[in-house]
Amino acid sequence: MNFNIYSRMTKMKDFECEQIKKAVRILKHGGIVVFPTETVYGLGARLSDENAIKKIFAVKGRPFDNPLIVHISDKSQLRFLTKKVPAPAKQLMEKFWPGPLTLIFKRSSQVPSSVVNGLDTVAIRMPAHLVALQLLRSLKEPLAAPSANRSGRPSPTCYEDVQKELGTKVDLILNGGNSDLGLESTVLDVTCKPFRILRPGCITLEHLREVVPNVILNFSKSDNEISRSPGMKHRHYQPDCKVVLVRPEDFEKKVLRWKNKNVRLGVLSYSKKIPEQKNIVFKKYFHKNKNKYARNLYACFFEAEKTKVQVLLSETVDRKGVGTALLDRLNRASENGSR
Ligand code: TXA
Ligand code: MG
Repeated sequence: MNFNIYSRMTKMKDFECEQIKKAVRILKHGGIVVFPTETVYGLGARLSDENAIKKIFAVKGRPFDNPLIVHISDKSQLRFLTKKVPAPAKQLMEKFWPGPLTLIFKRSSQVPSSVVNGLDTVAIRMPAHLVALQLLRSLKEPLAAPSANRSGRPSPTCYEDVQKELGTKVDLILNGGNSDLGLESTVLDVTCKPFRILRPGCITLEHLREVVPNVILNFSKSDNEISRSPGMKHRHYQPDCKVVLVRPEDFEKKVLRWKNKNVRLGVLSYSKKIPEQKNIVFKKYFHKNKNKYARNLYACFFEAEKTKVQVLLSETVDRKGVGTALLDRLNRASENGSR
């Protein structure tokens, strides 16, 4: 997968430049702005603006114990935000920034405690999206930004889904089209030895091990993990319909089993052709392409809601490559948790 935006960078349109100037004005006056990234859309506030940070938590209905990611456009900003950058982490940044990799560092006192819920660490990433980078460069200051969804819901990956999610509750939404990757960044803790993945994403264990061979994958929900990656314990990625996971070997049987039930059925299929069936009102087939499944997963969740799907059958995938991240999101979307 190509994470290098410069290879597919087009010049920004005048309209986009104007919108970015407007976004900077709003942020400098205490507002909150949604901006596109290569993973999902983010809801940003200036790192130094405590009131705007509070607005983010309020608008999302986000628990305060779930810290935010700090977005930067230049590695020199790390000096003010972190205490220490381990040498292998520098190699990872060299290879994957800008890109969908968030690194957890020991934080400096410049990072407001409210952004990180009093932790002594901070999550930092440099997004690989021209609009996001231009916004950060023009602002000349980092943005604290979670995904632009109400807490517990799928992350929006296009302008229309952000509007549906947050609409009038934010001061501006920058339109950057469809997100290239569709799943949130990989979160890697570099404060421990060996480094460990707290949230899987499109930069996979295999990618990271090419640079740092002993990275481990560790994002279970045991009590220990909860304290290291606070966000993972909460309800996540759940659309307003029941997501039911279906293994490839059971696919035909399971779809058929819902045939005579009086529900509006949706089907997401990774490897199987979806049969014609009267009660299937929404369907999408990904032709064994995991990247395509990942890119479209949340958009499909929003589409299923629009189509008033009640049960969304979703085929599982193997763990290879982006499969680990995709399965993680599918599993969490299908947990009924607190609903
Ligand atoms: O792709 C992304 O990462 C998107 C875009 C907008 O950049 N952002 C995003 O943010 O997904 P959010 O807030 O939805 O998820 C941040 C994740 C949560 O699981 C949170 O617990 C974890 O990062 N996190 C943040 N700070 C942390 C810290 N200091 N230690 C451990 N985990 C942290
Ligand atoms: Mg999120």
